[in-house]
Order: sequence, then structure tokens, then C-alpha cells
Amino acid sequence: MGKLDGKVAVVTGSTRGIGLAIAEAYVREGAELVISSRTQGAVDEAVKHLREAGGKAAGLACDVSHQEQVQALADFAVQNFGKVDIWFNNAGLETAYGPTMSYSAEDFNKVVQTNIMGVYYGSRAALQLFLPRHSGKLINMVGKGYKGPEPYQNAYASSKAWVFSFTKALAREYADSGVGIFNFSPGLVVTDMLTHFDVIEGHEHRLRVFPTVVRVLGRKPEYPASRAVWAASSATDGKTGLLINSFSYHMALAGMVKEVIRLITRQPAETPEIHMRSVPPVK
Ligand SMILES: NC(=O)c1ccc[n+]([C@@H]2O[C@H](COP(=O)([O-])OP(=O)(O)OC[C@H]3O[C@@H](n4cnc5c(N)ncnc54)[C@H](OP(=O)(O)O)[C@@H]3O)[C@@H](O)[C@H]2O)c1
Repeated sequence: MGKLDGKVAVVTGSTRGIGLAIAEAYVREGAELVISSRTQGAVDEAVKHLREAGGKAAGLACDVSHQEQVQALADFAVQNFGKVDIWFNNAGLETAYGPTMSYSAEDFNKVVQTNIMGVYYGSRAALQLFLPRHSGKLINMVGKGYKGPEPYQNAYASSKAWVFSFTKALAREYADSGVGIFNFSPGLVVTDMLTHFDVIEGHEHRLRVFPTVVRVLGRKPEYPASRAVWAASSATDGKTGLLINSFSYHMALAGMVKEVIRLITRQPAETPEIHMRSVPPVK
């Protein structure tokens, strides 16, 4: 018996990276899945992949920065599967790495619209379904910066601090509603977000140790995905307001020990390929 048998889940930004791994894990545990991202071809591909693995899945392109598209996603889930039990606001993006004045207001706004407004629209759509029936799990993805300021990643980090605070407040407002409302922190995960990004010219040196950090602390998306199963399962029934963290000091320590052994034994480093593109600052 799966931990999510009979449940219907919507995961935003679920065509690759952590979102896809969460979708795969949910399907393995018996959930019916609604896949989405901005790219229709990627949605179709992910749905096919889940169905081929024996899962029940349907998908709709949805840019979370547009409220009507998020509402359409919720309607699509109900039309296809009759209900929604789990809503995971996972979709997120970042600006180029660098000082705040070096990227455009347009790029800043993209982060705000996706990471902040997307979570707000998703939370609204989910709670409209969950509150009348006094059940459901709403899970919002935080990330670097949710605990405090992160210079050179200001737009992204501030957006995650907003998500953290917003989700905590929601959980308190609806503490007696029967709905579980959680923040989820995946730790450092090797995905496109980590391996393909822009850096403002002249700031590349600040990321000199980044490949080593990724090698030592970065984990596969399957790791947070298994924690996301726990978050959505009956293990969290009756709970709300939790920060569900998939970072583990044991894993971090194990990564460091492995790195020391590698250095002592002079083995070659298996660093994931990191594609850092230098871009000029905006004037
Ligand atoms: N990787 C990490 O180490 C890490 C650490 C902490 C937190 N996180 C958070 O975890 C989440 C997933 O990250 P990831 O590393 O898996 O990123 P990723 O590999 O870049 O995948 C992001 C997913 O979101 C979709 N997406 C982006 N913007 C969207 C939008 N406006 N509307 C709908 N879908 C959108 C992407 O598809 P399309 O481009 O086709 O839309 C893709 O499916 C993000 O919220 C990120 O901030 C990641």
C-alpha cells in the first residue's frame, strides 16, 4: 500500500528538477498527479513519463505568475480527478547572481511574480478547495535566504523569506481548519537551477568555491522528494505550520568526510558540470 493512495496532488513547476522528482515520488506512493510548468511540450513529456511508469497523471501548462492560469490548473485537477488533496507550490526562479542594482527591474519583477505572487495564487486556489472540506495539505517551497539576507541573491532570497513568513501566517490564521500548511526546505539539490545560471560580469570570483560546495553538499532531487512524501502523507495529519527540512547534518558530514577521503587518496573530483554564463550589468 502506498503512503498517498487515493490522494490527488498538484505540483507546480513539476516538469524537471525537484518538482518532477516530487511528482515521481507521489505517483510511486499511489497519488494521482497534475503536472504543470510554463512549457506545454515539457508538461506532455513529464505526463507521458509518469504514465509509462504506471502512474495516473494529467498535465496543463500553467505560468504561476498569472492568477487565471493557476485557477485554471485547480479547475483542471478537479475536472480530471474529482478533487485535490495536496497542493505543492514548487515553481521558482532566480535572477543573475550579482548586486541588486546590476539586474533589471524586469528581472526582479519576474522573481516577484513567480516566487511571491505564484505562491499566493497557488495558496488561494488550494485553500478555496481545502477549507470547506476541512482537509488538505498545502506545501510551499522556500530556499536560500528564507532565514535572513543573502547579498548577491537579493531578489531570490527575499522572495523566499516572504514565502516563509506568508506560509507561517497562513498556518496560524487557519490553525483550526483541519488543513495542513507547511514550509518545505529541500537543502542544496543538483538541478538546472544550480548548474545553469547567469552571473553579473566581475562577480564570478565570488562563486569560486561554488562547484566544491555543490560536490560536497548537493544532493539528488530524489532526496527532498522522499521528504515531500512524508510532508503530504498521513504522518502530518493534525499538524500545521511546520518547516519541513530535508537538509541533514549527517548527510552534510558524510559529504565532507567523502571529500577528505577523496583528497587524501587523490581521486578525481566528480563535480556536476556547472554552466555559469557571465552577463553585463544593466545601466
Ligand atoms: N535546487 C536547489 O538547490 C534549491 C534549493 C532550495 C530551494 N529550491 C527551490 O525549489 C524549487 C524548484 O527548484 P529546482 O532546483 O527544481 O528548479 P529548476 O530545475 O529550475 O525547475 C524549476 C521548475 O519550475 C518551472 N517554472 C519556472 N518558472 C515557472 C513559472 N513562472 N510558472 C510555472 N512553472 C515555472 C520550470 O519549468 P518551465 O521553465 O518550463 O516553466 C521547472 O519545471 C524552486 O522554488 C527553488 O527556488 C531549490
